Amino acid sequence: MRHRHTDVAESLLVVNRTNVPALPNANNREANVTASEQDDWWRRGIFYQVYPRSFQDSDGDGVGDLRGIIQRLPYIASLGVDAVWLSPIFTSPMADFGYDIADYKGIDPLFGTMADFDALLAAAHARGLKLILDLVPNHSSDRHPWFVESRASRDNPKRDWYIWRDPAPDGGVPNNWLSEFGGSAWQYDAATEQYYYHAFLKEQPDLNWRNREVREAIFDVMRFWLGKGVDGFRVDVIWHLIKDDLFRDDPPNPGFRDGMPPNRVIRHVHSADRPEIHDVIAGMRRVSDEFPSRVLIGEIYLPVERLVAYYGKDLAGAHLPFNFALISANWHAREIEDLIARYEAALPAGASPNWVLGNHDKARLASRIGRDQARVAAMLLLTLRGTPTLYYGDEIGMPQVAIAPEDVRDPFEKNVPGIGVGRDGCRTPMQWDATEHAGFSQATPWLPLAKDFVRDNVALLDADPRSILSLYRALIALRRKLPALSAGAYVPVRAEADLLVYRREFEGSSVTIALNLGATPASVAVGGEILLSTLLDRQSEKAEGRLDLRGNEGVIVAA
Ligand code: NOJ
Ligand code: MG
Repeated sequence: MRHRHTDVAESLLVVNRTNVPALPNANNREANVTASEQDDWWRRGIFYQVYPRSFQDSDGDGVGDLRGIIQRLPYIASLGVDAVWLSPIFTSPMADFGYDIADYKGIDPLFGTMADFDALLAAAHARGLKLILDLVPNHSSDRHPWFVESRASRDNPKRDWYIWRDPAPDGGVPNNWLSEFGGSAWQYDAATEQYYYHAFLKEQPDLNWRNREVREAIFDVMRFWLGKGVDGFRVDVIWHLIKDDLFRDDPPNPGFRDGMPPNRVIRHVHSADRPEIHDVIAGMRRVSDEFPSRVLIGEIYLPVERLVAYYGKDLAGAHLPFNFALISANWHAREIEDLIARYEAALPAGASPNWVLGNHDKARLASRIGRDQARVAAMLLLTLRGTPTLYYGDEIGMPQVAIAPEDVRDPFEKNVPGIGVGRDGCRTPMQWDATEHAGFSQATPWLPLAKDFVRDNVALLDADPRSILSLYRALIALRRKLPALSAGAYVPVRAEADLLVYRREFEGSSVTIALNLGATPASVAVGGEILLSTLLDRQSEKAEGRLDLRGNEGVIVAA
C-alpha cells in the first residue's frame, strides 16, 4: 500500500505550475473570460501566509527574519503554492508586533535590511512565487512622525491626519466606541486637551481616511512597494478605514454574553463598515491597477452578506475580501454546507470566492477541530471553489500552544486576560526538525515551541508518505492538475449527520468530494475512481456505486 501511495503522490507532484492550461474563471452564474490568465493568477492561485517573527531565524536572536524566509523558500515552493503573504515587516516599535508602523517604507532591523527584502523578492520571483505584503492603512504607530506632528498642536498641518475630538461636555470620552483590544477607543492627550481615536491599541492611532493627504500618503506607500515588484497587498482591517462622520454612539449588542471580548458589548455599526468605505477602497484598487497583475486582498470580519460588498461596485473594490466563515463555523456538515451556500448565493457575478482556515489572530485549526479533522479540513479548503489561503504550520498540523502567564507577549491577552483571546498560541515558531529549538533558531525563540515538535516537524513529516504534510502536497498538486478543482462550479450534493458531499464541475469533467466530519464510518452513493483519500492509502481504488468512508476520512472521487 505504502509504495502505491508514494507513486501517486509523486505523479501528482510533477504537475508544475507552468503546465496548467489557461482556463477561464467558472463562476457558477457567469463566467468571466475577459481578464487574461496571467492577470487572473490570484483567482486560481493558492496563498501561504508567513508570520515572519516565527518562520525562520537566521541571525540567532530568537526572532524570525527575512534571511530566514529566503532560506526556507525551497520548502514553500515545494508545497506547490503560488504566493506568499508576509505579515508586517516594516519599521515598528512592535507594540502590536508590526501592526504598528513607524515607517511604511522601511524594513525593521529585527527582520533585516532593504537589501534583504530585495533579495527575498528576487528569490521568490526566481522560484515563480508571488510576494504579497501587509498594508496597514487604518492606523500607524504613535511613534510615526505623522502622529508625532499631529499631536504636537491643534494647528499642526498634520492635526487632521488623525481623528481628534473634544471631550464630552462632562469631560469624558467623545462617544462610546470601544477598542478591539479592550477599553475605550479614545485616548486623552493632555498637551492639546483632546482625545484621539484608536480602534486597537493606544499606540495605534487611527489615520483619518476622510483626509485627502492621508489617502495620497498611503497610495504613495503602495506605489513604492508595487514599484519594487511586490505582487499585491493584504490590507489590514480594511472595513475599519472610514468611521461615522457624526461620531454617533454604537448601539448595544443584545447578543453579548459573558466571556466574549469586551468590545462586543456594542455593535460596531458606526465605528466601522460605513458606506463611504467603498470609494476609499476603489481608490486603492486604482493605485494597484496602475501596475499589471497585482492583487488586493481585504481583511474583513463581517457576515457574508455584508462581506461581499467589499468586491466593490462593478468589482472595483478588493479582488479578494477574505472569507473567514470557516474559522468561526461549528464543525457540522449541515452548517458548513449552509455557509457555503450563503456565500455562493451572496457573491456578485464575476466575483472570485476565497476561503481561509486560520491566521495569526485565531486559534490553530488542529486544536479547534482536532488533529484527525485537520486533514479533512485541508481537503475541504483545497477542494472548495475559491482561492485558498494556508496559514504557515497548518500543513504540519501545528497545534495551539498553551502559553504560561509569564510568557504572554500578545497585547490583546495582556489587556483582556483570561478569556482566551490571546494570539501567542497560534504564532509559535515553525517546527522544522527535532533538534533544539526545532531548527527555527540557534537561540531561545521569542515564543515557546509546541511540546510535540519532536514528532510534528517538517523533516519527519516530509519523510512520511502518509503525513498531513504529504496530504497537503497531494491536495495542492491535484488541485493544480484538475480544472474541476481549480476552476469548476460548486454543486452541493448532501449534508447529513457528519457527511458533507459536493461536486466540482468543469466543462464535462467532474469530481465528487465526500467528507466524513465525524469519527463513525459512513457510506455515500457514488461511483468512480478514488483520486485521493485524506489517509493517503486508497488511490486507484474504485468505488462501485457506493463509497465507504472511515471515521475522519475525506475522499475525492473522479465522478
Ligand atoms: C488585524 C491583524 O491581523 C491583527 O494581528 C492586528 O492586531 C490588528 N489588525 C490591528 O492591526
Ligand atoms: Mg532573527
